Amino acid sequence: MPTMTSTEPFRVVCVVGARPNFMKIAPLVRAFAREPRLASTLVHTGQHYDEAMKASFFDQLDIPSPDVDLEVGSGTHAVQTAEIMRRFEPELDRLQAGAVLVVGDVNSTIACALVAAKKDIPVIHVEAGLRSYDRRMPEEINRILTDQISDLLFTTEQDAEPNLLREGVDAARIHFVGNVMIDTLLHNRSRCRPAAEVLDALSAPELFRQSEGYGLLTLHRPSNVDDPKVLRLLMETLGDLARELPVLFPMHPRTKARLEAAGLARQREENFLPISALPYLDMLGLMIGARLVLTDSGGIQEETTALGVPCITLRENTERPITVTAGTNTVVGTDPGRIRAAFNDILATGGKRGHIPDLWDGRAAERIATTIAGWAESRARS
Ligand code: UD1
Repeated sequence: MPTMTSTEPFRVVCVVGARPNFMKIAPLVRAFAREPRLASTLVHTGQHYDEAMKASFFDQLDIPSPDVDLEVGSGTHAVQTAEIMRRFEPELDRLQAGAVLVVGDVNSTIACALVAAKKDIPVIHVEAGLRSYDRRMPEEINRILTDQISDLLFTTEQDAEPNLLREGVDAARIHFVGNVMIDTLLHNRSRCRPAAEVLDALSAPELFRQSEGYGLLTLHRPSNVDDPKVLRLLMETLGDLARELPVLFPMHPRTKARLEAAGLARQREENFLPISALPYLDMLGLMIGARLVLTDSGGIQEETTALGVPCITLRENTERPITVTAGTNTVVGTDPGRIRAAFNDILATGGKRGHIPDLWDGRAAERIATTIAGWAESRARS
């Protein structure tokens, strides 16, 4: 395995696969390019492949074209994970990797971590230690297993370290560095498309432009969209709330397909606007402009906390407790009464103000690059 000498930078093979990975990898690739002791290679697994889920993110976030595209596409969890592993292994054999870096908790994360660990190539996990303690979530399985086989674990919030210590992870491997997704948000905040322009481009009804504002909704978790009964209840509840505050609903392709299959797809209405998934800079502009956000996404819970926008999380739990304790997030599940109560509270009071969590300062990727370079140097010496 290559180690670092004074002339040869340490090569980190960075893996991306699904939409939330793109925001996390962008600042890392930039930070590695600025750190002379490191070099990086970018592998895209192709877990997400639609223009709306992939290409626009590479362009808008200035992520270089991947050096390798595995083009796996969709499948069951087993098929998708296995296919990523099967295609990643021969690439890794030729890439001269000093380490493999994975981000987040998607199937691409565990698949590539597992391939590297079996080849005795160190694994670096960015966004380690988050736990919902709900193993029905596919992401929770991916998080636990990836952390177990990682050599360097970078955490975004202080609750993550005790989670890892409880699972037997050596404290020396854990580094609290902050949040790379927030690096991306801060980097792009001044570049985003203002909400008014996005609303114009979408030909949104006038109601969305009034001073009362609008709510922004996203849904894609299997637990919310795969069971037609849960999905129907959510759509009814959210449709009711839209009478009080118009709701804009950018749909993940999975959600769109599930709504159509369940006969629940809705047309554009004066106060309810279902649209396709949006590029990053449009979504950021709409989040900044929103009166409140309703979501089951992990990343959006963090982004709304960083922006100070109230967030209602349509899940029973969160693996990101800092967004509740310090931030603007309220976790309500899918019970209509609880959703409505949180919604009314925000309309009446403006919602939680929150404060920015420690180290969510736009410099997490820089800290990660410095830590990896130092770690690689000490490995080369030993
Ligand atoms: C994945 C992640 C999830 C993350 C989400 C963000 C896992 C287990 N889940 O979920 O943690 O929050 O990405 O988006 O890795 N599809 C398309 N076009 C695409 C991608 C997907 O149409 O470009 C559709 C397909 O019908 C596919 C379905 O979405 O079967 C699900 O895609 P998949 O990658 O399996 O999981 P996500 O639900 O996107």
